[in-house]
Amino acid sequence: MCGIVGYIGKREASPILVEGLSKLEYRGYDSAGVAIIEKEDIKTTKCKGRLLNLQEKLEETPIKGNIGIGHTRWATHGEPSDRNSHPHSNEDETISVVHNGIIENYLHLREWLTSKGYKFVSETDTEVIPHLVNYYYKGDLLQAVMAATSKMEGSYAIGVVCSKEPDKIVAVRKDSPLIVGLGEDEYFIASDIPAVLNHTRDVYLLNDREYVLMTKDGVKLFNEEGEEVNKEIYHVTWNADAAEKGGYEHFMLKEIHEQPKAIKDTMTSRIIPGKSITLDEINITKEEIENINKIYIVACGTAYHAGIVGKYVIEKLARIPVEVDIASEFRYRNPIVDKNTLMIVISQSGETADTLAALREAKAQGARVIAVTNVVGSSVSREADDILYTWAGPEIAVASTKAYETQLIAMYIIGLFFAENKGTVSKDELEDLKNEMLSLPEKAEECLKHKEVVQKFASKTYMHKDMFFLGRGLDYAVAMEGSLKLKEISYIHSEAYAGGELKHGPIALIEKGTIVIALATQEDLFEKMVSNIKEVKTRGANVLALALEGHEEVEKTVDSAIYIPKVNPLFAPLLSVIPLQLYSYYSAVQKGCDVDKPRNLAKSVTVE
Ligand code: M6R
Repeated sequence: MCGIVGYIGKREASPILVEGLSKLEYRGYDSAGVAIIEKEDIKTTKCKGRLLNLQEKLEETPIKGNIGIGHTRWATHGEPSDRNSHPHSNEDETISVVHNGIIENYLHLREWLTSKGYKFVSETDTEVIPHLVNYYYKGDLLQAVMAATSKMEGSYAIGVVCSKEPDKIVAVRKDSPLIVGLGEDEYFIASDIPAVLNHTRDVYLLNDREYVLMTKDGVKLFNEEGEEVNKEIYHVTWNADAAEKGGYEHFMLKEIHEQPKAIKDTMTSRIIPGKSITLDEINITKEEIENINKIYIVACGTAYHAGIVGKYVIEKLARIPVEVDIASEFRYRNPIVDKNTLMIVISQSGETADTLAALREAKAQGARVIAVTNVVGSSVSREADDILYTWAGPEIAVASTKAYETQLIAMYIIGLFFAENKGTVSKDELEDLKNEMLSLPEKAEECLKHKEVVQKFASKTYMHKDMFFLGRGLDYAVAMEGSLKLKEISYIHSEAYAGGELKHGPIALIEKGTIVIALATQEDLFEKMVSNIKEVKTRGANVLALALEGHEEVEKTVDSAIYIPKVNPLFAPLLSVIPLQLYSYYSAVQKGCDVDKPRNLAKSVTVE
């Protein structure tokens, strides 16, 4: 939640900060602001609303200076307003701070600072930071920030400027992401790599409690004891274009179309016919795999839905019991974990607070943890024992699409890897499954061609207030994901149900004209699903069905049908989700919704 940036160099800071914030808007977009050192003073412009409002203000009244910090907000403490927007300052505006995270003990700090005469003007937790830094400031900004952060509990990535030391930016992270961009005689801080990619590909991926001291002459890193730290430079190999719309109207549409490539990239060098599956960053031994008595897959939102597919796949292929948990539930339910428990956390961003907390909980109880994540160097990747990166490339749209696809691929890879090690699948079957997997990018490409049918169905249904998604087995897992996509970007209420569960209650809601999207890709459950479709049709529902090619008989029962290429049903989720993503996309477009930045949401939920 929230994106922060900082710039120090020879160029005008204002446009660079705004451009960096535009790349981070996916992290929050209810207000934005910058603080720039102009001559010897800090000048701040901030306002409620999209970045465009800030840009307009800066055009009317430009701020000139080569050092500054910026922020794009997703409100947690205090409503979106000009007053609550960042940067926040101390009383005489000599210290200015941008912050991503939550200061959990802010009320206590606020009371304490108030008792010392400090005055607060916002409702935010962040405002305690500039006052604390002010309290500890004795002529050295880095020391003051270190002292201030030693009193702060919670999560933070902060950037600080001070007009008394107008040649510096100080920054630090704890449980919120922060990177440092290393340009030529110019340096950056940012919550995420795309914010600096137009200027440099060399970055430092900071660890928790590492402090950054940036001047025009360079960057120094310190640990919390104040000792200088040497860090390897991480060279970003993907291009800035990967984080641009590339001619598509929305990032989401672009990312949907990038799925065949993302699937392929995630399999490359891992799934090779005739060769054992090798996973570079998973060091679990054959013996350890044999000893696993239980797997927990823990994640949030779309990643959780990928986990549900993972359960089916791993149980089927490797015959290990799998429980899937929502991370925010897992962390507080005292789960039964021991050294033979394996946890798989799935997180596109690798920074989701609940997922990270669940990972820590499991590790503390002795479990081994595999992280499936899309972000190199993210918190979950650092804290897990093993990593399986999903090579989806940067996902900018808040609604996850290509990351989900690659998370599914990760589930198949892990399932096959365990099956190979445990010998639960024959060599021939394993080869067949690998070959089938390798055909998926091409089949996913085919699914994109359903655009017109989907668009037509969306144009007839986008005004509905409620919808149902039905499926059995793996189709039920995909139904959940289709329903979430529709809710989050088109604001249409929808529910996903297991086909067999319908008659235990929800069928009471089906009436003439109710929209039902029924998935029927699972061969062994096809007839049963057709019966469920008939149950809703009899009660007047308008049904769109998704089935495998070769099951055209479904047309006799439904109003519209989409066929996905014939595939082993185990892999059908990868294909059947594509028309559902397109359906939510076109429904949102028809309704005039802001597809890439849906209301109330942020891409990366780094607060509890
Ligand atoms: O970065 P993560 O994968 O941990 O994020 C988890 C969820 O917040 C995320 O999938 C969310 O549900 C998306 N908005 C779904 O489109």
